Amino acid sequence: MSRLRIMLRAGTLAALAGALVWLWLPGRHGREQAALSEFPLPAGPFVALTFDDGPRAGTTPVLLDGLNQRGVHATFFVVGENVEGNEELLVRMEREGHQIGLHTFHHRSLAEVNAADFYREVDTLRDALRGLLDQQDFMLRPPYGMITPSNRARAGAPIILWSVDPEDWSDQDTARQLSVILDTTEDGAIILLHDIYPSSVETALQAVDALMAQGYKFVTVEELFALRGQQPECGQEYRKLPPPE
Ligand code: NI
Repeated sequence: MSRLRIMLRAGTLAALAGALVWLWLPGRHGREQAALSEFPLPAGPFVALTFDDGPRAGTTPVLLDGLNQRGVHATFFVVGENVEGNEELLVRMEREGHQIGLHTFHHRSLAEVNAADFYREVDTLRDALRGLLDQQDFMLRPPYGMITPSNRARAGAPIILWSVDPEDWSDQDTARQLSVILDTTEDGAIILLHDIYPSSVETALQAVDALMAQGYKFVTVEELFALRGQQPECGQEYRKLPPPE
């Protein structure tokens, strides 16, 4: 194994990304941010696997087992209604190195809710997760990828969309979903799947195996920002994080 490969083994990569995330936390002093520019950023290709609408007791543990076996960290945008009864699953996600994000309390479109409903949908979920997890900052994925400018301004979080969408909710066809993923994934892609369908769990694990064989390294969304030397900004929409020109 080459020195570069050893350096980029999952554990080392996660530790490096963790250090970069720490350096880029909002409000850190300029001196520490300046120190970051002295790091050469590691080469990709990187990809972030993201799962919406869970957790679900019948499917999410199978996915977590498969990701754990492969040393892969993903990002889960969870729905508040699914938190109760699945607390241990969320704690397990965090313990196993996954990132957790917000997908509203009742899966409501943030293109349609007013300010009061926005806070009910987003802040109540954030508060519930803060009480449960060590992680205290949560990125937001609006259901259906839709959000009004005024709700963007209320988000208090970066808004994470996606660049690869196999529409896994529309059928149970793992072969079709896998081919969409393999045809459209590029360095810095954010892949959208749903951990509430057994077929999607199968698609995800097959995609991990196929993309790893092509040299892709799987990171959380937060790690992807850090590996690009980019600071996520509240209220800003992100679909992918390609390598710098
Ligand atoms: Ni959703």
